[in-house]
Amino acid sequence: MTILGNRQLPLLPPDAVGAHTRASRDPMTCLFKCGNACDQPEPNRSGNPHLQDEIARVLGRRRVLQGALLGGATLVLAGAATEDAAAAPTADRVRRGSLARTWFRPVRPNRRDAVVTASGFTSSVVIRWGDRVLPGAPAFDARRQTVAAARRQFGFNCDYVGLVPLRERTDEALLVVNHEYTNDELMFPPGIYTDDEKRALSMYNHGMSVVRVRQGLVPGSWKQVTPLRRAPENRRINVETEFRLTGPVAGDPRVRTSADPRGRTILGTLNNCSGGTTPWGTVLSGEENINQYFDAGDGVPEEYAEEYARYGITGEGKGWSSVDPRFDLSREPHEPHRFGWVVEVDPSNPSSVPRKHSMLGRFKHEGANIIIARNGRAVAYLGDDERGEYLYKFVSRDRVDRRPTRAARRHNLGLLGSGTLHVARLRGDGLDDDRYDGTGRWIPLTSDRRSFVAGMSVADVLLFTRLAADRVGATRMDRPEDVEPNPVNGRIYAALTNNSERGTTFPVDEANPRGTSMVRAEPGAPLTPAAGNRHGYVLELVEDRGRHTGLAFGWNLMLVCGDPASAETWFGGFDKRLVSPISCPDNVAFDSSGNLWVSTDGNALGSNDGIFRVPTSGLERGRVAQFLTVPPGAEACGPLVADGDRSLFFAVQHPGEVTGATFEEPASTWPHTDDFPRPSVCVAHRDR
Ligand code: FEO
Ligand code: CA
Ligand code: CA
Repeated sequence: MTILGNRQLPLLPPDAVGAHTRASRDPMTCLFKCGNACDQPEPNRSGNPHLQDEIARVLGRRRVLQGALLGGATLVLAGAATEDAAAAPTADRVRRGSLARTWFRPVRPNRRDAVVTASGFTSSVVIRWGDRVLPGAPAFDARRQTVAAARRQFGFNCDYVGLVPLRERTDEALLVVNHEYTNDELMFPPGIYTDDEKRALSMYNHGMSVVRVRQGLVPGSWKQVTPLRRAPENRRINVETEFRLTGPVAGDPRVRTSADPRGRTILGTLNNCSGGTTPWGTVLSGEENINQYFDAGDGVPEEYAEEYARYGITGEGKGWSSVDPRFDLSREPHEPHRFGWVVEVDPSNPSSVPRKHSMLGRFKHEGANIIIARNGRAVAYLGDDERGEYLYKFVSRDRVDRRPTRAARRHNLGLLGSGTLHVARLRGDGLDDDRYDGTGRWIPLTSDRRSFVAGMSVADVLLFTRLAADRVGATRMDRPEDVEPNPVNGRIYAALTNNSERGTTFPVDEANPRGTSMVRAEPGAPLTPAAGNRHGYVLELVEDRGRHTGLAFGWNLMLVCGDPASAETWFGGFDKRLVSPISCPDNVAFDSSGNLWVSTDGNALGSNDGIFRVPTSGLERGRVAQFLTVPPGAEACGPLVADGDRSLFFAVQHPGEVTGATFEEPASTWPHTDDFPRPSVCVAHRDR
């Protein structure tokens, strides 16, 4: 039995979740989220070295830029990470309501079935799984779910959280959210739905939501705009939504299907993990573990054996082909090539056709985050979230048009259609200086007109980007997730979540230095050694001379995560006695002072996951302070600092996803509105 709080959970039989021991995530999360990727041999067999403004229209960014102009980067933070070490804040150090500047006492590791915020702050739910998004949606009833209802309700397992301002008013904005994956065990009461009904409901619980929100009465709080007729932008993007494929792969024979003989119109987006809000007011979203949706009724077609293998497409899908034959590889071998892209949605126009940008390459995209380089080009940073995969950068051919005109907007919406895609190679400096650091090179893979990889065409490189990156000797990293430019200091921060096989299958090197880790079964339990890099890193990348369009960069591991009591950890040089334990960084964000905000997924120190604030400059650089924790089984997603640093939006994804838990025997009932858990988007802010 697994004991959580005062609940006793019957365990699922081992074969229900696989003999899964390698990741710090709960095995149930591994099964449903990524198709047990950790238990498959890593698909990267390359043998590569393992070294390792209109921008101001966007609400959060505008304030970030204002913060930068006001010299926010030099502000003093005061976050003490242990209660014993906490010093009382002085009045001038606290600017009420500013998440960037307010002192808070860090939250201790815990297993509570709650969102626990730092004292002085609180959080509220903005929208839950099943809540109404479109007019005509029925009230959610888990026992009477229908596809027609799911098409109008908030989807399951919210991940990326973006906030796009409205032109006409500043107290309202558009919340854009990804719905990454589904979990039959936690979504469906037993004995009600047939297998095909579950599959269809799961399909329509994927995708994205656009929801108009407004400021609440308490500063920093936000709620959904109702009645829904006052929210004309609200939208559910799902498995039947039309997307237009852009860039060099559009029309390629390998993306043509019987339903789309021209290879330009794709139905749906799947496994949307993280994303980014563009300076021109759209949202980018990464299609991540797309390999797990395709069945192989009559076997996997030989024609694409190598390509499928490199992407982990085995034909062991979710059985969706019984509902929609396009998910059967033997009938539609090209359907997988239509997923694994970065998609762009214009939330301000609910009838716009969203796009899939082939120019940003095809892999297990975590997200895409853009900075406008000094020369005006849009630069997107990208991560491929799997063990041993790569970091990428896209530089647009054209410059952003900053004029507030319709023509400028049309121009900017085309920026991601042409440019150059690069992959990163990192070298350690080899010095025994107690720093994991070195230099690196962005290796061009292809432009929209010319491939730089011998033997591969432009379309080859973009369709099978992993194979192209293998050939140029890119550096295999420990699960690159969010990769995001800090708008205050211009540096790039990448969350490298973990790799349980680093030190065994994957040799250690200076960029990926940890082969064993000290882990904990639960808060307060002793630290014990475990193979691999269990806690991950935060990589800081400094573009040469601050030119984001260049090819050379420097790097260092700003955080080697884990318990500060372990010798293996490093917190940017900050006093380890004063920092919070942190494990498995996943998503990153920035406030107006350039502080890093990190959410975690898969705590290997026995605590619930959470969100942390980390100064990136000054005397407090590296002072990791835990701001909140999420319920058992959940990962924390987002995060997003908005509304002048008064609001922290975040998603609580897969609450209660603990092996053995079911709809009827849940491991969490958060947010405690029902007798089962509901993934939800929340906002944290001052409590008064
Ligand atoms: Fe969906 Fe990379 O986590
Ligand atoms: Ca070094
Ligand atoms: Ca993630």
